[in-house]
Amino acid sequence: MAEALKEELKISKPYLLDSHDLTYQDIDCIFRQAQYYMKNYDPETKFNDLKNVTVAMAFFEPSTRTKLSFDLAAKRLGASTLSFSSSSSSLTKGETILDTLRTIEAMDVQMYVIRHQLSGTQNLLQNNTNGIVLNAGDGKHEHPTQALLDSFTLFRHYGSLEALKGKKVVISGDILHSRVARSNIVVLKTLGCQIKLCSPGTLLPRHIDIWDLELVDTMDEAIEWADTLIMLRLQHERMSTGLLPSLGEFYKYYSVSYEQFQRNENLILMHPGPVNYGVELDYKLATHERCKIQTQVTHGVYIRMALLKLLSKHIKK
Ligand code: CP
Repeated sequence: MAEALKEELKISKPYLLDSHDLTYQDIDCIFRQAQYYMKNYDPETKFNDLKNVTVAMAFFEPSTRTKLSFDLAAKRLGASTLSFSSSSSSLTKGETILDTLRTIEAMDVQMYVIRHQLSGTQNLLQNNTNGIVLNAGDGKHEHPTQALLDSFTLFRHYGSLEALKGKKVVISGDILHSRVARSNIVVLKTLGCQIKLCSPGTLLPRHIDIWDLELVDTMDEAIEWADTLIMLRLQHERMSTGLLPSLGEFYKYYSVSYEQFQRNENLILMHPGPVNYGVELDYKLATHERCKIQTQVTHGVYIRMALLKLLSKHIKK
């Protein structure tokens, strides 16, 4: 068993509903805890930090990365997990989501990892439980654990939180429908990064002024300015028709080609996944040494272990 972490790490809120719940000090604690797990994880021995805790994975929308990594994170910490799938549940017989929550709670579950297609569902559920809710993505509102693993990837690349101050990040693609963009803007601002957006006007939110961010008009300009490029996929499942003249036009002006990416030798490339290669990214970029997509997935497990551990300190006995 690894030597226990000596520092007493704590985060301020007893839940994670959106990125505004996270202070700079919270993020620092989460990264320290994640680094500890990264350094000490050994497949032969589990941590016991969540022994006697049960975590429900309730995904009302499809997911590969978030669901699997939360499940793995909980198991690596010694928790029991139960998986809830809406399509095969009693929701299909008319049970409400609040009754579903109460039913799961009656089975002595303490933590809930929830993804839902409606923004704000996790807030409603947190207001109706004594358990701890972690938002694994709600509509086009927020995906705070993705933003944390993205900034942890930058933290690991640049070596410290101090080194992130002033780093130039461009977020590009379908920002209008992206909960990842919304969460990243908050977390990256908290960490002192400079952020610009690169997107067709029809894929930007109408009230974009509240973010107080600059826009860049072309991908060439973005690549020249940025240290990090976060690409987003077109979210057809949330899109009404008529937002783009054609996929071909989007590809021409807003995707990244291998040749373009090579022009800035310090640029790193991130994408939350799933990626639509040939739309927002050239397939050849998947294996580029400065492409961090697989690293982001690996970091997601450690960030989620850290969050489960730190939030479990708030479990009511
Ligand atoms: N990035 C992300 O949320 O991926 P999944 O939808 O596969 O969980």
